[in-house]
Parts: sequence; C-alpha cells; structure tokens
Amino acid sequence: MEHNILEIDHLHVVFPSSKGETSPVNDVSLRVPAGKTVGIVGESGCGKSMTARAVMGLIHAPGRITEGEIRLCGRDLRKLSEKEYCSLRGSEVSMIFQEPMTSLNPVMKAGHQVEEVLRLHTDIPESELKQRVIDIFRAVGITEPEKRYNCYPHELSGGLRQRVIIAMAMICRPRLMIADEPTTALDVTVQAQILRLMKDLVSDDTGLLVISHDLGVIAKLCDYVYVMYAGRIVEESDIFTLFDDPQHPYTKGLMDAVGSLRRDAEVLSTIPGVVPSLAHLPAGCSFCLRCENGSDRCEKELPGLIQTGPGHKVRCHLMKEAGQ
Ligand SMILES: Nc1ncnc2c1ncn2[C@@H]1O[C@H](COP(=O)(O)OP(=O)(O)OP(=O)(O)O)[C@@H](O)[C@H]1O
Ligand SMILES: [Mg+2]
Repeated sequence: MEHNILEIDHLHVVFPSSKGETSPVNDVSLRVPAGKTVGIVGESGCGKSMTARAVMGLIHAPGRITEGEIRLCGRDLRKLSEKEYCSLRGSEVSMIFQEPMTSLNPVMKAGHQVEEVLRLHTDIPESELKQRVIDIFRAVGITEPEKRYNCYPHELSGGLRQRVIIAMAMICRPRLMIADEPTTALDVTVQAQILRLMKDLVSDDTGLLVISHDLGVIAKLCDYVYVMYAGRIVEESDIFTLFDDPQHPYTKGLMDAVGSLRRDAEVLSTIPGVVPSLAHLPAGCSFCLRCENGSDRCEKELPGLIQTGPGHKVRCHLMKEAGQ
C-alpha cells in the first residue's frame, strides 16, 4: 500500500512587515508518497523555498510557523526540539540548497566534508569512513573518486561540486531529499545528468521533493506536481494530467513558458504583470490582477482548492467541481 514520506497540512508561515503580517506560505498542504518524486513549481518569491525550510525546521525569527502540521514518516516535526531537529537533518531528511557554493566549506577537502556527515549521524568506525565516502562518490558519478576526495571545492567543476553536495545529502540514506533549484548554476547537459541521478536515487521507501521555477525541469522528473502562486497552492495534479489539461490560468502561463530558451527571471513574459507583493494581496484570488478572465468575485472572494478530476485540484472560481 502506498504510504507518505512527507505530509504537510494547512501550513502557514508568517513574517512581520510594515503593513502587518505577510504569509509567504499560506495554507499549504502537500504529500510526498514513498518512491515518488514530487515537484513544487512557481515564480520567484512564491514561497517554494520557505515551504522547504519549514520542513527542515529552518524558519528563523522573526518568521514563524503559525499553523499546520508537518509529518515525516508519521512523525510530527513541529514537536521536535532544536536538538532533535539537528539529528534529523542530514540523517532522515536532507536538503540541497539553492546556492551550491555556499553549501560547501571552501577550506575543507571535499571528502572530509562528506565524512563529517557520517561522523555526526552514525557510529561507523573511523577506519571505514573514507571508504564509505569513496563509495558514495562513485555512486553519484564522481570519476576518480580517490583523487576527488582530496580536492578542495574550488578545484572541482560546478558539476562535480554539485555531485559532492548530493553525496553529502544522501550518504546517510535519508527518507526525504529536498532539492531546491539544484541546477541553476550548471550548464544544460550537466543539469540533465544531475537531475537524472537524483531521480534514480529515489527508492521504494524514500521520497524526493524538487523545487523549481521551470515546469520543463519538473516535467522531466516528477510524478506529481504542486503549482504555487503568492504563497498558495493554486493547482495540483499528476504530471501527465497537468500537461494534458492545465486548468489554472497561471499554470497555463507556466506551460507556455516551457521550451522557451529564456532561463532568466523574465521567463514568464507570457503572463503579463508581476507577482503582487505579499503585503498587497487582494482579498480574493492572488492571481486575479494578471488573469484575463478575472471578475469582481475573483477579486473579493478567495477560491477554495476544488477537485476537478481524480487527483486534480484547482484554486479558481472559473472551474467546476467534478460531477457538477
Ligand atoms: N526573512 C524574510 N522576511 C520577510 N519575508 C521574507 C523573508 N525571506 C523571504 N521572505 C519572503 O517570502 C516569500 C517567499 O520566499 P521564497 O524564498 O520561499 O520564494 P521562492 O519561491 O523560493 O523564490 P525563488 O524562486 O526566487 O527561490 C518572498 O516573497 C520573500 O520576499
Ligand atoms: Mg527559492
């Protein structure tokens, strides 16, 4: 039977601002089933990283989680102390961060950095640590692993550094890996290899959560996808249905941007306007200001996430519930 590695229910993260409180994560619920790769896609600033940070226990003051539940293999993460979280990170859940360079210590040999993770989370004897690291380097496709073990990060190419980071994230075989835009700094060929590698690392009792602003990347990797806009999930579906029948106007815009050669922040030139500031969201649908079909109702009344088909949900007043 299918079980979930990660379950998030009605998660709210708020930050104080001069205009009162803003909600970069606003009533987000999502699932990562065992053996599956799940994506979160959306434009810059929509709350993707913040959702991941909440799972990692890395929302720092003045930001805070005000509501919701986060469960990893059934365990309530919001009840963990900082000490318990420290032992969880790297062993049961690990995250590959957006800026790969800042994830490695520049003055420490690559092999030693990965060894540190083992030392922290396992009682593997000192004499076996190096071999474990060499083995994992080989598993993530690092050629000449003995040689790379002794390299400092600046002596490695971007692709190799990314592989070292992946080795670090997976050496303790975590149940959940979160990859936050793991590839933006890499050229397209290396990017494709790294993504393939990560996908191959998902086994029957682990899950992978991939975060990207690029629906093309998500499409290649994920079984299921959540589309986020201004802190909220606006559509969720299995990947085939989403491409077959995108329903939210925002998803359709993202879809038009797939295949576009532009990989910069303007990738969504197909949707006019910009994401509204979180401090100035309309009472209703956050997308209505950019939506061609937005009405008075859209501006005033927040649409719920309604089911439009099996496993397909959309937050839009223009949609009809399945069977209606
Ligand atoms: N320390 C902070 N204080 C207040 N607001 C913050 C803070 N950090 C982030 N935010 C806001 O939270 C929102 C979500 O940010 P987040 O980093 O999750 O976006 P993202 O979807 O990961 O974007 P990107 O694609 O650029 O990485 C943004 O609007 C951002 O301005
Ligand atoms: Mg981010």
